[in-house]
Amino acid sequence: MSLSNSNDAKASYRWSQPAERNQVPILTHLQSLLDENRHYRVLEIGSGTGQHAVHFANALPKVEWITSDLKENHATLNAYLEVAGNPRIRRPIELDAESLAKFDEQVDVIYTANTCHIMSWEQAQAMILNAGRVLATQGLFLVYGPFHVGGQANSEGNYRFDLSLSQTNAWQGIRNREDVIREADAAGFSLTQAFDMPANNQLLVLERRRD
Ligand SMILES: C[S@@+](CC[C@H](N)C(=O)[O-])C[C@H]1O[C@@H](n2cnc3c(N)ncnc32)[C@H](O)[C@@H]1O
Repeated sequence: MSLSNSNDAKASYRWSQPAERNQVPILTHLQSLLDENRHYRVLEIGSGTGQHAVHFANALPKVEWITSDLKENHATLNAYLEVAGNPRIRRPIELDAESLAKFDEQVDVIYTANTCHIMSWEQAQAMILNAGRVLATQGLFLVYGPFHVGGQANSEGNYRFDLSLSQTNAWQGIRNREDVIREADAAGFSLTQAFDMPANNQLLVLERRRD
């Protein structure tokens, strides 16, 4: 029985269909970006339901995955991690884009999915800047989600999604890829790869330079 179909799933934690779909192609890239023989400590920002943490940590046996999110998401996240029972996944720490600056553990990778358009642009800028402070040279900052390109939506679906975000909360909206890359450059990152992903999403691979 899959976790998503268990009674626990319905009773105690939220479930995201998009996360269930996109975790498969994202994992394929993680498997090619990370050396399977090396131990990695990954910090995830905005873990949400915890599905990505569980799917990736289960498939990547050398990875220790640190989940984090705003306090309001910890109950569902904890409930799902309890059911998943993977000792390499750390229970959520309370962290947002700004408090990331105070994170003082050494991590090799910072991973965040579908967060840049949910937080304000100022918070997204803070997250990028602080990721640059936290990550050591050659650490990877992996940013997944929808992005506009050249100020334009790359699909009708993303155009409508952006509109619905800003109509619901004025501070939300799909970010321009160039703006994210520019902020990342200022924070000490170089874009080494960018992958087009299903449903018009993208995976940006940013490597911390030796600045
Ligand atoms: C759309 S959900 C994505 C969840 C998960 N990463 C996924 O892809 O399924 C956005 C997440 O960003 C988190 N978030 C919102 N504002 C944030 C902030 N300022 N700092 C850190 N995380 C934030 C939310 O709590 C939520 O878990």
